Amino acid sequence: MKVAVLGFGVVGRGVFDMIEKAQGMEVGYVLVRPGKVDAEYKTDSLEKILSDSSVDAVAEVMGGIEPARSYAEKAINAGKHFVTSNKALVAAHGLELSALAREKGVAFLFSAACGGGVPFLHNLACAVKTDKVNSLGGILNGTTNYMLDAMQSKGWSYEEALKDAQMLGYAEADPTADVTGLDALRKIMLACAVGFDVLPNEGLLNEGIDSLTAEDVEDFKKRGLTCRLLAKGERRERGVSAYVEPWLLESSAPECAVLKNYNMAKYEGECSGPMVFMGQGAGRYPTASAVLRDLSYIVSGEYYMLSDKAAAGAADNSACFHNYYVRLPKAFADEFKCADKQEDGADVRLITEKLSVSEMHAVAKKIRAEGAKVFFAGLEMEK
Ligand SMILES: NC(=O)c1ccc[n+]([C@@H]2O[C@H](COP(=O)([O-])OP(=O)(O)OC[C@H]3O[C@@H](n4cnc5c(N)ncnc54)[C@H](OP(=O)(O)O)[C@@H]3O)[C@@H](O)[C@H]2O)c1
Repeated sequence: MKVAVLGFGVVGRGVFDMIEKAQGMEVGYVLVRPGKVDAEYKTDSLEKILSDSSVDAVAEVMGGIEPARSYAEKAINAGKHFVTSNKALVAAHGLELSALAREKGVAFLFSAACGGGVPFLHNLACAVKTDKVNSLGGILNGTTNYMLDAMQSKGWSYEEALKDAQMLGYAEADPTADVTGLDALRKIMLACAVGFDVLPNEGLLNEGIDSLTAEDVEDFKKRGLTCRLLAKGERRERGVSAYVEPWLLESSAPECAVLKNYNMAKYEGECSGPMVFMGQGAGRYPTASAVLRDLSYIVSGEYYMLSDKAAAGAADNSACFHNYYVRLPKAFADEFKCADKQEDGADVRLITEKLSVSEMHAVAKKIRAEGAKVFFAGLEMEK
């Protein structure tokens, strides 16, 4: 199989190295920006790649929506198999690109876009052919997991943990998508599309860890709890629910054993029960290994992760109920019915009675609009 690699950054260089060593694969071209063509295999011309009939597949590892979307469309129209690590592209245009690929009889695969190197999406896509999956999700963002682990185990502040994550190359210079939960939200959108045939593109809710303080983490420790950022998707009577929230977990929960920048993705099938996948969610070679696996699936004739029934839909989080841990100024404490309340200076730390995810996010938004600082995390209390 001859592969053209679009993009030569962190993942692109990894894909290049791995193809060079893989049996039965070779690099046809690497697409770089104009002015960066410094080797024979590099080109700045997509047309040159697509008009070469010896190129079987295109691996897009540039990131962003445009020109990645139009390059994908052109590659598929030119009869090239297409694989990508780009979650933003698949969350926004995966349905139309997958449909186009089916029409043209070429592959559209995106394992690396959810869970990096963790072999989650492909296994999920295989499972739904023979089993009904009702829930999925997990720890899908390595940057925030690294920060939460460092804050818990080293007592670091949010700022210290973020700086360290940036120094190690886990967090981008602009870490907004990671720390607000947007990156994990895009990944749960893809998992819902594969697992439930619904790509939720409305009604999604994400709360990240950007309101978390070292004092909050000290309080979790006193309560014997550990914080993890969890993405959750569930099949519901009407459609699906899909959201991202920090969660407080008892130390016996498997998520607490996920340290540093690791990911843990899981699904629960009616027949299989819970299935858990753990590994590196980011980084050059872990991510490149997922791109290479997609290329090898194509060789075995597996072309799609999205079924031909997959369609866009709205997420409804109003029927998901659980308790919450909330830290907020005392003046706002009456917004919640509480199972427990502890004053802490000008703030109060509450354990709420059960309320819906949509209600919790709406109340937090309202309080923040009044200039107050709020942290909240989901919590499953014993009945
Ligand atoms: N890094 C990870 O661990 C990881 C994990 C999972 C998924 N991903 C996804 O993989 C994709 C790539 O990530 P990355 O970390 O490898 O990013 P990166 O290091 O920024 O690399 C992207 C490369 O693509 C090039 N590029 C962008 N637009 C181009 C264009 N129009 N023509 C030619 N080259 C272009 C960039 O060139 P310039 O430098 O000149 O802009 C850069 O070399 C993203 O979608 C990301 O979300 C990454």
